[in-house]
Amino acid sequence: MAVIFSGIQPTGRKHLGNYIGAITQYVAGQDRGDPAIYCIVDLHATTVPYAPAELRERVHDTTAVLLAAGLDPERCILFRQGDVREHTELCWLLTSVSALGELNRMHQFRDKSAAQRELISAGLLLYPVLQAADVLAYRAHEVPIGEDQREHLELMRNIAERFNARFGENTLVVPEHRIPAVGARIRDLQEPERKMSTTAGTEQGTVYLLDEPDAIRRKFKRAVTDSDDPPVLRRGDDKPGVTNLIDILASVRGVSPQSVEQELAGARGYGDLKVAVGEAVVEALGPLQERYRALREDESALEDALAQGASKARAIAARTLADVRAVMGIGAVP
Ligand code: TRP
Repeated sequence: MAVIFSGIQPTGRKHLGNYIGAITQYVAGQDRGDPAIYCIVDLHATTVPYAPAELRERVHDTTAVLLAAGLDPERCILFRQGDVREHTELCWLLTSVSALGELNRMHQFRDKSAAQRELISAGLLLYPVLQAADVLAYRAHEVPIGEDQREHLELMRNIAERFNARFGENTLVVPEHRIPAVGARIRDLQEPERKMSTTAGTEQGTVYLLDEPDAIRRKFKRAVTDSDDPPVLRRGDDKPGVTNLIDILASVRGVSPQSVEQELAGARGYGDLKVAVGEAVVEALGPLQERYRALREDESALEDALAQGASKARAIAARTLADVRAVMGIGAVP
């Protein structure tokens, strides 16, 4: 079986695209992974301006969301990046096989550095090397990620291949990405030609996991569809709004988009679809929100869960680091 690894940013405002595209994949990975390892990346959060006093709060928010969605610390390894120092050490060691030109060309670096008003930190440039260290430290095979991370994964594969060629074949595993078919496509409800996104989307078009039920229903009721008359309830490249609603309904119900299309054959118009998807999302998120509130209150239990995850993670990463240091000739003779 394959080792699965993914990283998630510490923010409290996870949305439906994160949920369908990433979080439900994480939960599914628990039963397939050997092991399934999920890391909340607080070190990555320092690459742009941030409030130190809030970072731990956001890590707790994210931990509670992941546990509420069904991650089980007994069946996966859930930990905070900053608790396992092997990540930062491996990041430095990997800089020796990371090409500056390649880092400079990364779209995320270009976009984020253009957006910085004051300091463009070197951390922003090295972000993908730390991300490579995250995955390579566990010799992971599969990395579930969104479409936007494809470039970082390619870079990580190059780093692993270059490392093995330079220092010793089979020291590191060259990972594969796993981009989910549907989740990668969840779109903004107001601007369905764009991805649902906390930073780039519209507030009314973004459904947050912790939105009140009425707010969720309202956002779906106001979702932008199209002006086909009579309304055509099917998916298609020419119908991004309707396609998105059908995809969301199918994912939260755990059925295929085709079966949703068949079911909608008797519907009167887009209104029926909007109400159905709004209700289905409220129904799916209600129990999650309830669990979230209970979990989020008990910060020491969240810290315990993270500590348990970190000690399991450290045991694996420490073995990789020992091998990497040995083949690189770093430190005392092993
Ligand atoms: N950069 C990823 C994102 O923004 C988060 C991340 C950090 C990650 N380390 C990772 C994803 C390792 C996959 C594997 O979504």
